[in-house]
Amino acid sequence: MIYFVTPTYPRPEQTPELIRQAHTLMHVPRIHWIVADDKYKCSRHVLGILRRSGLPYTHIASPKPNMKKVPEWLVPRGVSNRRAALDWIRQFVTEGVIYFGDDDNTVDLELFDEIRTTKGLSMFPVGLIKEYGVSSPVVRDGKVVGFFESWTYNRKFPVDMAGFALNVKSLNPTATMPYKVGFIENEFLKESGFDIENIEPLANNCTKVLVWHTKTEKNTPRILKGNLKAMANSRYQNLGKLLQELQKMDVLKVTPRNGTEAAVKLYHRDRKSFLFLADMV
Ligand code: UGA
Ligand code: MN
Repeated sequence: MIYFVTPTYPRPEQTPELIRQAHTLMHVPRIHWIVADDKYKCSRHVLGILRRSGLPYTHIASPKPNMKKVPEWLVPRGVSNRRAALDWIRQFVTEGVIYFGDDDNTVDLELFDEIRTTKGLSMFPVGLIKEYGVSSPVVRDGKVVGFFESWTYNRKFPVDMAGFALNVKSLNPTATMPYKVGFIENEFLKESGFDIENIEPLANNCTKVLVWHTKTEKNTPRILKGNLKAMANSRYQNLGKLLQELQKMDVLKVTPRNGTEAAVKLYHRDRKSFLFLADMV
């Protein structure tokens, strides 16, 4: 069994990212998807995606600590929720392979065949990483002897979260992930007590990229001026329902107070007219 751990958080891109990841995982046998919400409560629309996927899943929530005084780029991403996933695995799982698959990465189906045989810690290249375009172990005579990675400073294991898998049996009972940007993987692997000599290189001795660090353009949630309740009772009910649905997914927000003056273009016989959302009653 592969335990595919996905941290996720509310934002406009969340639903499409998770749908895409679900559709990858639906091709994979013996997989258990652990989706860890960066929230106080599991989000309904995330649960909806999990249910519809038909995959065996665990849905847990654990929000990031309040770090309001810290600039955004210094807040590590997906730590609290990955920690919760690790706790769950420690509590309920005795065998299998753990892989940290972010919601925005692109995974080749071949990766699953590769990582399934991980005995301790395995590693493999990740495409589209920073300055070098790839991050990979360097292999000599079948052994990992170094790393090709643009940022190695102070990192014994200069790897991306998507570049390794580990056996549940090798999961150290206390190893955790730190709230430290750029050092999450390194500290976790160090605390786990892994050695460079024992890393199992995969993907044909690290000659193939089977996972990609794709990034989706960030969207700010749109604020539209209007009243959802009034729209639901108006003649244009579908629009009210549609926008309500997207509001639940954190794509946009409709509020009577401020926001973009959005308009509908209407046709009545041959006459065209415009109606502002805010004027729909
Ligand atoms: C890179 C690595 O690929 C991540 O695995 C690593 O956690 C991160 O850097 C880091 O060291 O901070 P990157 O593409 O820069 O990731 O970050 P995101 O894709 O935005 O976030 C990584 C994962 O954490 C995603 O699955 C995302 O949904 C989740 N996340 C992000 C949260 O759960 N909460 C947040 O506030 C932000
Ligand atoms: Mn990412």
